[in-house]
Amino acid sequence: MDRYAVIGNPVGHSKSPLIHRLFAEQTGQQISYEALLAPLDDFAGTLHGFLRDGQGANVTVPFKEQAWALVDQRSAEAEAAGAVNTVMRLADGRLFGDNTDGRGLLQDLQVNQRIALRGLRVLLLGAGGAARGAIRPLLQAQPAQLCVVNRTVARAEQLAAQFVGQGPISAAGFDWIEEPVDLIINATSASLGGEVPGISAKLIEPGHTLCYDMMYGHEATAFNRWAADQGAARCIDGLGMLIEQAAEAFALWRGIRPQTASILRKLRTSSA
Ligand code: ATR
Repeated sequence: MDRYAVIGNPVGHSKSPLIHRLFAEQTGQQISYEALLAPLDDFAGTLHGFLRDGQGANVTVPFKEQAWALVDQRSAEAEAAGAVNTVMRLADGRLFGDNTDGRGLLQDLQVNQRIALRGLRVLLLGAGGAARGAIRPLLQAQPAQLCVVNRTVARAEQLAAQFVGQGPISAAGFDWIEEPVDLIINATSASLGGEVPGISAKLIEPGHTLCYDMMYGHEATAFNRWAADQGAARCIDGLGMLIEQAAEAFALWRGIRPQTASILRKLRTSSA
């Protein structure tokens, strides 16, 4: 049986084994998928050890940048993101690295949520790995503007500078903008600590602005609760993105893309 795993530290909370098991059931694929805890100082040993006979692996915190450096070949998305979340062992034994997070976000936004990004004024909050992975696919969707907004302005400026020439990208600090926008995507890790990025409430036009938090949880995230309080038209969490990035990985490995809608319903009602 072909073996797959998600490798991280911590990894016990990962929903990937459940999601991939449901994908395999749905598509009739015989695979196993496990969660592997890698020691913080030996991700390389864990990845290479697993892929001696495993076919592929997902990589999660805090190893996505290391995975990028370890693979032999990368997709354009992985190259732009500077991070790899999906590794596949090629027939000749070399490792191919992809990053499916951005495609997962776009699929969730554009297909599941039916948000046409073309022409929208978009704010991307955060300048870490999660934000970086989203920029190339967001620019490809041709927004009117994509502004990277970060607590530490210099990081937003550095990140935006890497994508100059690829679309209408800019950078700003939290208190620099007060004009309402069409879509705000929270790619900071603030929700993990129950915090809300310190942006102005004026960025949200009541009844119009759409808000998307890449995080998700049992209950609405801190950012989505705040956005709802400001009158955001919709507040969407990152569970759909999680499932879509997994579907992209599954498609890369198995050559078949699972239907995600029923899986999303299952995860929402089970525990989320
Ligand atoms: P990740 O790979 O998950 O993006 P990261 O590289 O550590 O993680 O980046 C975390 C992001 O969340 C950063 O943009 C960080 O802002 P700074 O660059 O100013 O540190 C942002 N972040 C984390 N906690 C935050 C908070 N409480 N308020 C606002 N931004 C926060």
